[in-house]
Amino acid sequence: MITLLVNGESHQVDLPPDMPLLWALRDVLGLTGTKFGCGIAQCGACTVHVAGEAVRSCLLPLASVSGRPITTIEAIGATANGAKVQKAWLDTEVVQCGYCQSGQIMSATALLDRVPQPTDADIDTAMAGNICRCGTYVRIRKAIHNASQA
Ligand code: FES
Ligand code: FES
Repeated sequence: MITLLVNGESHQVDLPPDMPLLWALRDVLGLTGTKFGCGIAQCGACTVHVAGEAVRSCLLPLASVSGRPITTIEAIGATANGAKVQKAWLDTEVVQCGYCQSGQIMSATALLDRVPQPTDADIDTAMAGNICRCGTYVRIRKAIHNASQA
């Protein structure tokens, strides 16, 4: 059995230790806000937080996260920076199709947790692994600045 601590709840799951975390979140726990994009840790759609750090859940084996606190898009709004980021996203009307955006919000929140007043360069570096096919990058950068000043 593997212990998954997700969004403050503990789950005992009987799953292969090499199963990617994303599979367990979506298909076992029903947390479908985290998206599958590339499956090879290249697009950022599957980003969640493990112990406060933004990670790609599509390649992260369950064995490596057993017992560690995991936060997904479903609960990030309950954190101070997550709430600021989500409000800034709405105020700035960042979203186009939306598919990449839960991952974008998770990476942006992790950035503000580390760097409360990020520069453009900080933002570009932190967000470089989150691809948006709709090209919302300018609004993402603006929203992160707005959230940092909220
Ligand atoms: S689905 Fe994980 S990085 Fe693309
Ligand atoms: S909003 Fe469509 S992929 Fe980013």
